[in-house]
Amino acid sequence: MVGPHDFSLQALHEFQTKLKPDKAVALIDSCFRDNYSERLAPLREIVPEPMCLYLNGGEDTKTLGLVREVALRLNDCKVTRRSLLYVVGGGSLLDFGGFLAAVYKRGIAVAYIPTTLMAMVDAAYGGKTAINAGEVKNLLGIFKEPDAIFLDESFLDSLSDREILSGYAEIVKYALLEDETFFGKVLSTDPLTHPAQLRALIDQCIHIKKRFVEADPLDLDTRQALNVGHTVGHALEGYSHASARPGFSPLRHGEAVLIGIIVELYIAHKLLGFPAERLQQIIAFSREYFSPFLFECKQYDAIIKLMAQDKKNSGDDIAVLALRRIGEPIKINVSRAQLRNAFDFYREVIGG
Ligand code: GLY
Repeated sequence: MVGPHDFSLQALHEFQTKLKPDKAVALIDSCFRDNYSERLAPLREIVPEPMCLYLNGGEDTKTLGLVREVALRLNDCKVTRRSLLYVVGGGSLLDFGGFLAAVYKRGIAVAYIPTTLMAMVDAAYGGKTAINAGEVKNLLGIFKEPDAIFLDESFLDSLSDREILSGYAEIVKYALLEDETFFGKVLSTDPLTHPAQLRALIDQCIHIKKRFVEADPLDLDTRQALNVGHTVGHALEGYSHASARPGFSPLRHGEAVLIGIIVELYIAHKLLGFPAERLQQIIAFSREYFSPFLFECKQYDAIIKLMAQDKKNSGDDIAVLALRRIGEPIKINVSRAQLRNAFDFYREVIGG
């Protein structure tokens, strides 16, 4: 797994001198077209404006239709198999851009410049690329490690509080996989503090992720621990997008993951004795920073149906990554009844 370089003109030059692409193009989150464009100054020295394509970030962008559309635009820009694609944005755009780079002319070089907290701590690393299909998140994807990652935490200034908090939920996940010390540090840090204060947490998450990815790059075994909270989280995220209506903002990835963490740790508490005190700390954190997700029992079946499609499952069982205690993840199968009880618990403690 490649580690991050600083996002500087010198680092970009050094990278390109080694890679020697015949051309560099950039796929950039459209929020940087008008606002915060000065943040991209080092990239603009390397990639001329006509070679910059803008696309909205977010899960709705991860479609095969858009892969086709952007591939045709790259072809119009005479992008060859020896060209380099920079992808600048959050996790969804990196998923999309990585997938595009993997399939365009059977694969071109790609470098990521993550601009959201979620992408900085998680999505940029480990080579997962993905496209959604129907209500199923990440149904299509390929492993493709980026050729480089450039990190600058000052991009976090450009984010809303909601976006920062969504990324912070992934930091909570990493804390659960690490140890009591890191967990204590993460839950006692104000997620909305100055970005520079978050840098040490970001670096630690990258370090943890590296360990899991190197041990199991294809996600067939121990890397699945990185899915704590995600079986329930992905289903809720997919469900909230599918049932979106005007005036209703669907769950962001990290928001759904934090709910997933509470639901899955409740099951872990019941079945494996995960400490109630740690679960209560996460609930208190969620109540302090996150809005409750309101849902009713009549929606449980639709959400569980989405969970049945999770890639970790085998046969009819639904697999979740539970923990015996902090730092001890274990994959277990859970019944529909256990999930229903855990949803009831979430609604009771969070106030849905
Ligand atoms: N985000 C989980 C993984 O990369 O495996």
